[in-house]
Amino acid sequence: MASASSSSADSARPAIRPTSPAHHAAGHEGAAPSAPSPRVGPGLAAPDAPHAADAAANASANDFARLVNNRHSCRAFLPEPPPAGTIERLVTLARAAPSGANLQPGEFILVAEAARERLCTALVDAWRSGAREAEDYTYFPEPMPLALRKRQVAAARALYDALGVARDDRKGRDAQFERNFRFFDAPLALLVTIDAKLGAGAYMDLGMTLHGLLLAAAAEGLGACAIGALALYPRLIRQTLGLDPARNIVCGVALGYADERAPVNRTRTARSTLDDFFTVLR
Ligand SMILES: Cc1cc2nc3c(=O)[nH]c(=O)nc-3n(C[C@H](O)[C@H](O)[C@H](O)COP(=O)(O)O)c2cc1C
Repeated sequence: MASASSSSADSARPAIRPTSPAHHAAGHEGAAPSAPSPRVGPGLAAPDAPHAADAAANASANDFARLVNNRHSCRAFLPEPPPAGTIERLVTLARAAPSGANLQPGEFILVAEAARERLCTALVDAWRSGAREAEDYTYFPEPMPLALRKRQVAAARALYDALGVARDDRKGRDAQFERNFRFFDAPLALLVTIDAKLGAGAYMDLGMTLHGLLLAAAAEGLGACAIGALALYPRLIRQTLGLDPARNIVCGVALGYADERAPVNRTRTARSTLDDFFTVLR
């Protein structure tokens, strides 16, 4: 999933090929990002129900639309941990996602205490030393098609603008990127793995599960961020935590109460317009 030179959004990962660090470096390209649509738009919430009997369904559709549209990645957390049992409840809700043949691919590992300390130290050390490994699965195409590149740049720009980090502030971007490897200091640090034998369909299933997790967290008033940056160091992660080599490292997830005052949490991204991704053929 890696790409990009040192910047902090997944959309701006460290370059796999250090010789071309600017290739994915958000903000280092000339093309201006397109102006995507706002996330809450016409048609995203249920229309007003014509019958009173539909009112409850309509309200719950609107609640769902609000939940989906208000969720956003959280990259700074308050130190207080969520109550005991929270993570178990969230991953159980996430597991309710559909999957092909109900295979339910993917596992969540809560990495806590000494194990988390070991993991974060190893990751930060590796990152600082410039170490690189082959990832378990590919995420970003090389080269990135221009249309996607523009979205990537826009996402990175949203992040760095919120932080007040300038385009050419390599140190500032590095510092933010490094925070991926500490799970943004969230009280809860999850690692997401998948059976190495499974293919693209299972990653699709797992993606649904992940969205379920992020929505379940948002529904409970928690902030969360998926961390694909962890997929940069799969072997190191397996070694440090003593994981089975037959489990691929997919990503991490940081979870906890959002620090609403942190500038990074003002990052907001937009989505492309309906015309960009939806067609009717007759
Ligand atoms: C699978 C996945 C991996 C991600 N990896 C990272 C990451 O490594 N670092 C990061 O800061 N954000 C990461 N993100 C967050 C995305 O940048 C974010 O979802 C996207 O920009 C849209 O913004 P939003 O989540 O606020 O709607 C990841 C998101 C997903 C779904």
